[in-house]
Amino acid sequence: MKITIAIDGHSSTGKSTVAKQLADHLGYIYVDSGAMYRGVTLYALKHDLISEHHFDKKQLIDSLPKIRLEFIKENEKDRAEIHLNGINVEKEIRTMNVSEFVSPIATLPEVRRKLVMLQHEIGKEKGVVMDGRDIGTVVFPDAELKIFMTAKPETRASRRFNELSRRGDEITYKEVFDNVKERDHIDSTRKDSPLKKAEDAIEVDNSEMNLEDQFHIILQLAKDRIAGRV
Ligand code: CDP
Repeated sequence: MKITIAIDGHSSTGKSTVAKQLADHLGYIYVDSGAMYRGVTLYALKHDLISEHHFDKKQLIDSLPKIRLEFIKENEKDRAEIHLNGINVEKEIRTMNVSEFVSPIATLPEVRRKLVMLQHEIGKEKGVVMDGRDIGTVVFPDAELKIFMTAKPETRASRRFNELSRRGDEITYKEVFDNVKERDHIDSTRKDSPLKKAEDAIEVDNSEMNLEDQFHIILQLAKDRIAGRV
């Protein structure tokens, strides 16, 4: 039996790392819902719909039908990467510039409605591991396994800072820390689909856990659910 696995949590908790490990191990599809919100944000930045000084919500909402997001594999063995209107933007959506504007954009119900429809479509056959903020609460409330990941903000910021520095981005730890805190705040307090732990989610605090331990703990939970043991 194939199940649906929902992994939600604060920013930079390592959701996508464990979600990819699980999907590879189980032969499931991995879906990064955050990449979709980042894709819409990249579109808004490129069309000058948002900046530090303005946010043209109406124009962005009117433009939504023109924003096409797809996960496409370049090669059979590769992981699917996000394409915005036919162009691979997997790298471009991870910059700090996109991170700075993604949470305000993710507050818009029209944006959320469009992306949740896409998420339902991709996940309708089950056999999917999806990570995000509202997957266990709103997108797949019937998911057989829901994980809520959390870790200390300092740990999360230094993980993300290392990741971005390795890629050659010129940023400071303080910028990353402030962004992580700011997004947590906006994501948890917005009206539509705020980030919160689903009642039936299992909380995993990985502040003191290495990747291998974390993977094995969550994999065991998944195996139990697949076997219908718990
Ligand atoms: O940086 P991190 O990997 O933690 O975040 P992400 O998963 O790439 O998500 C980027 C942003 O998209 C979040 O801070 C949320 O504002 C928004 N998001 C959301 O609102 N709902 C989701 N299901 C996924 C992401």
